[in-house]
Amino acid sequence: MDYKTLFRFPEGIEGEDYITATYYLETPLDLHRAADALAAEQSTGTWRRVGYETDEVRKKHACRVIGVYPIPREVTGAALPTGVDLADFFPDTQEAPTRFNSGILRIAFPHINFGPRLANLLSAVAGNLYEMGAFTAIKLLDLEFPQSYLDGFQGPKLGIKGTREILGVYDRPLIGAIIKPCVGLSPESLAELAYQGARGGLDFIKDDELIANPEYNPLEERVKRVMEALDKAERETGEKTMYAFNITDRADEVLRLHDIVYENGGNAVMLNFVTAGFPVLRMLAEHTKLPIHCHRDFFPSITRSPYVGMTTEVFTKLSRLAGADQLHCGAIQGKLYESDDEVLINVRTCIQDFSNIGASLPVISGGQWAGKVPVNLRKIGHNDFILLSGAGVYAHPDGAEAGARSVRQALDATLQGIRLEEYAKDHDELRRAIEGFGKVKY
Ligand code: 6PG
Repeated sequence: MDYKTLFRFPEGIEGEDYITATYYLETPLDLHRAADALAAEQSTGTWRRVGYETDEVRKKHACRVIGVYPIPREVTGAALPTGVDLADFFPDTQEAPTRFNSGILRIAFPHINFGPRLANLLSAVAGNLYEMGAFTAIKLLDLEFPQSYLDGFQGPKLGIKGTREILGVYDRPLIGAIIKPCVGLSPESLAELAYQGARGGLDFIKDDELIANPEYNPLEERVKRVMEALDKAERETGEKTMYAFNITDRADEVLRLHDIVYENGGNAVMLNFVTAGFPVLRMLAEHTKLPIHCHRDFFPSITRSPYVGMTTEVFTKLSRLAGADQLHCGAIQGKLYESDDEVLINVRTCIQDFSNIGASLPVISGGQWAGKVPVNLRKIGHNDFILLSGAGVYAHPDGAEAGARSVRQALDATLQGIRLEEYAKDHDELRRAIEGFGKVKY
């Protein structure tokens, strides 16, 4: 069922004033009753009407149920744990339900209640509703924003275009690496590994999400050493490499760390933006002139279950609103939980039209190496992504420079329509990668 085409705002309601949220819901309650409860709980109401919840207050501030679409399938139990006695919802019989309803709800939220503020938006559309004991599964599937709301956001400052302009690379996917080992290296050793990767032809290198500003590898020293190393590599190869320094910290430290990167010549920053928070990402995006590489660790705790949380589409929309220039999307045939189709949805959501909000550059990462380049290009079907390898570069049998070169060779071959096994006959680094890492994926 294409539920999106099935709703209209009720007469007298101005669509521009509302954000529309679409949920999947399972509940022992009648779906309409559950939808009303959700709408009430997330706006003017609670479990009983209170005195000051006047008609006037409701008219302007209450959520509206604009669609309830039952899904005809059998749900026999509570998907999520619930401590409430579900029998209490059936006072007539006082019997625990044996049958649960499932369906799609569309609820319109008046954005006058929270304004263009991401933390407050989330509290409304994805807050307490997850705690309702009678909602035995509830997942936010989509958010649709009116232009009047989008106008309150600037989105990514640099995105795909800005990243490409810094690198001067326009006609192919970008390739990159995550420094491995990701923790425990001194600034000198880490810079040496960055140098090797850049020498091998990488466009992009980054800190892992597990390192930011630890005592053993302080950010300022790391920035100085890495940028020196990358400048040296650029003088030797004639190619630029971007390095994303992880500045994740408490909100009041992030801008200070950003300025350390910027003032010491760094050309990108990275934020573990799910643990740091959307508002911190937005603050950083409004402050910086550098691309922000957004790492999504912690995100699967919100997206992975079909029964709770939100979909990646919603998550990606929020990330773009907050200003994510480069956004992790999972891995095609990699080591992460998403199917290739889900990764492709993430990639598409990064770049699809979102009115005044620019595109984020999709980042493919997790279990990648030279042999995964063909399948990525075939499935993604365009050049606007970065493919990152950790072990695929840093565990290459002949070292990191060879590892980087092997990925670049795989890209060159794929863009020319040559099979990697063929190209590897006179490209040693690629041949050694295939020998070391296994089967090429097409
Ligand atoms: C990152 C990485 C990281 C990922 C692996 C990738 O960008 O920091 O994506 O989150 O899980 O560390 O490394 P491999 O390429 O070795 O799988």
